[in-house]
Amino acid sequence: MDRFRGVVIGLGVVIVLVIAIGLSRIVMPGTPAKPQAAANEYKGAVSASALLRVPVSGIYPGGNAAGLNPNMKNPLADDPDAVERGMKDFTVFNCSGCHMANGGGGMGPALSNSTWIYRSSPANIYLDIAQGRAAGMPAFGAMLPDRTIWELVAYIQSISKDPGDTFGTTTSAEPQSPNTEQVPANQLKSATPWKFTEPMPKNGDKPG
Ligand code: HEC
Repeated sequence: MDRFRGVVIGLGVVIVLVIAIGLSRIVMPGTPAKPQAAANEYKGAVSASALLRVPVSGIYPGGNAAGLNPNMKNPLADDPDAVERGMKDFTVFNCSGCHMANGGGGMGPALSNSTWIYRSSPANIYLDIAQGRAAGMPAFGAMLPDRTIWELVAYIQSISKDPGDTFGTTTSAEPQSPNTEQVPANQLKSATPWKFTEPMPKNGDKPG
């Protein structure tokens, strides 16, 4: 008989627990079942599997790029606030510690020019930040929500539009850090680029 009583009490405890958990979901409906999924949900969010289809080089076996998506857009490209948030993130997450303020270039390469080591598409820039890159770029993917990374991409895209393709790079004879500087393309091969320095155009004058 005691055994029967034990089973009944056990069953009772289980039933009370099930009801209590059920009620807590109703009383606190805001409690997310999967916090990770909630953080990634926003309009145009890109799935991880889609990002796996972004090629990081231009080499394809058999010259066949079918199934890859090299031209994925930044889902925040149309969000005017994204660039501004990205600009703040660039300082907050110390990107500027290596790439300098405004992405001018330091221990890390300049991001404010149109020269890229790892390709220029928004998804490529996303992957640079999320995965890190071999020669000293830390992988931020485990630390930053993907939306924040797309904001950084939006900012980097905005600063890399200037000064445009007419500017190239040259290497100093005595490399310092950074050892590359932006110079006009017609001075690209010069060993003495600063010899050509000209005064800034007067206000209102068009350069050049
Ligand atoms: C510890 C220094 C360091 C920090 C911090 C850092 N970077 Fe970098 N970054 C580098 C270096 C070095 C490279 C070049 C890596 C290579 O050539 O393999 C690089 C490369 C990159 C590239 C690719 C550039 C290209 O030409 O293809 C991007 C984009 C980038 N970083 C963005 C960022 C952003 C955004 C942050 C902040 C979230 C950041 N970096 C923080 C050092 C850093």
